[in-house]
Amino acid sequence: MAYLEWTENLSVGIPRMDAHHRRLIELINLLFDAMQGDASRVVETVLGNLLDYTRYHFAEEEKILAACGYPDLEEHRRTHRDMVGEVAAMESRTLTQPGSVSPSEMLDFLSRWLMQHIIGKDLRYRPYAEGHLDIG
Ligand SMILES: [Fe+2]
Repeated sequence: MAYLEWTENLSVGIPRMDAHHRRLIELINLLFDAMQGDASRVVETVLGNLLDYTRYHFAEEEKILAACGYPDLEEHRRTHRDMVGEVAAMESRTLTQPGSVSPSEMLDFLSRWLMQHIIGKDLRYRPYAEGHLDIG
């Protein structure tokens, strides 16, 4: 079952970035599924994958925003750094105190973490990205 869903209103105007966002949503859904069972190793793996993919996605997005001449790139970079720190903190909490984070707390945290970023920050670069569709 999918808990989070990508919909057209989340489109940032760059197909490759939309595909990355879809993948992040998929990983969050996988993580939530993994948490329903008692497979803490699976949770660790998926959380690790989410963190790795997030780092990759943010780096790619920052390259594109630089190529678009996005004026708020520095602020956007800072936000990305903070977001990686938040998930890393969640990961270490899960590793050091297994079971301390409930599936609903995790889903709640990650859905806000991603959705608020896409809606609140990424959609702001859409007008800049649209003029540079060759970049994505
Ligand atoms: Fe972003």
